[in-house]
Amino acid sequence: MMAFPRQYIQYEDIRIPGGVHTVESLNYASKEFETRDDDVFNVTYPKSGTTWLQEILSLIYSNGDPTPVKATYSWDRVPWIEQHSGRQHLENKPSPRLITTHLPFHLFPQSFSKTKAKVIYTIRNPKDVCVSLYYFSKIAQFMEYRDDFQDFVSLFLSKDIIFGRWFEHVKGWLTLKDSPNLLILSYEDMIKDLKSNVTKICKFLGKELDDAAINSVVEHSSFQAMKSNPMSNYSAVPNEIFNKDHGNFYRKGIAGDHKNHFTPAQEEEFERIYKECMKDINLSFTEN
Ligand code: A3P
Repeated sequence: MMAFPRQYIQYEDIRIPGGVHTVESLNYASKEFETRDDDVFNVTYPKSGTTWLQEILSLIYSNGDPTPVKATYSWDRVPWIEQHSGRQHLENKPSPRLITTHLPFHLFPQSFSKTKAKVIYTIRNPKDVCVSLYYFSKIAQFMEYRDDFQDFVSLFLSKDIIFGRWFEHVKGWLTLKDSPNLLILSYEDMIKDLKSNVTKICKFLGKELDDAAINSVVEHSSFQAMKSNPMSNYSAVPNEIFNKDHGNFYRKGIAGDHKNHFTPAQEEEFERIYKECMKDINLSFTEN
């Protein structure tokens, strides 16, 4: 298969896809952005549930009313701070702003630490992240593509992977773990019990939704509901950016798909590196 054209920005120590990001937009996000006390950040390593949280947060802030998620694109509702349109989207956005980012902690807006802004960091099993990113890189024309899964695993485990390695990303964000302004979510827990996670998010954000509203958030942020929502399923993005002939953004939405992709030898090697990198960190990933 032909390699897709790609263009990367080396920003400090990490590689970020070009085009949608520029040095200017990254400088804006990291150095110039003025965090407000009531900002809410949806932070993820790519393919860990970013879009899911965009939908959930939008629905929580509309008290479960699905009208806004059916009327406005997800990237306008909960925009990425580091993308080239970040400044334009966020400067004049009324509070409370819902903001998405894949930035590692050390590149997160410097102004954040002086505020009471809240961060939700969603963690997904890195083996499933790797599988999801492998398929995403077939669709996303700005991603480095490796047809051979083993080659992709090697790329995923190297410092050349976009937004830096999963291990450092997670460890960086976990340095905030004792902060009352950080909520850590697990993609796998959300798969198992979305309602209790939505309730947890509401509590963290001080949003009081009644049971019917919570149920509506759960209903409208299900995999099927999002997959069929043109405002959230990326169908509007041109094929030059997301080539829909190469797959669907909403691929499987399950926990444990790595078992269908990793050979025993790949599992073993991944586990070895995981243990080496995450030795002081206690995380576990439940599977379907
Ligand atoms: P798969 O490729 O494993 O299916 P991100 O939004 O961070 O890019 O992550 C995309 C991954 O989240 C994809 O995983 C996608 O299917 C999954 N996803 C998106 N919405 C979801 C939902 N409502 N429920 C479960 N998984 C969801």
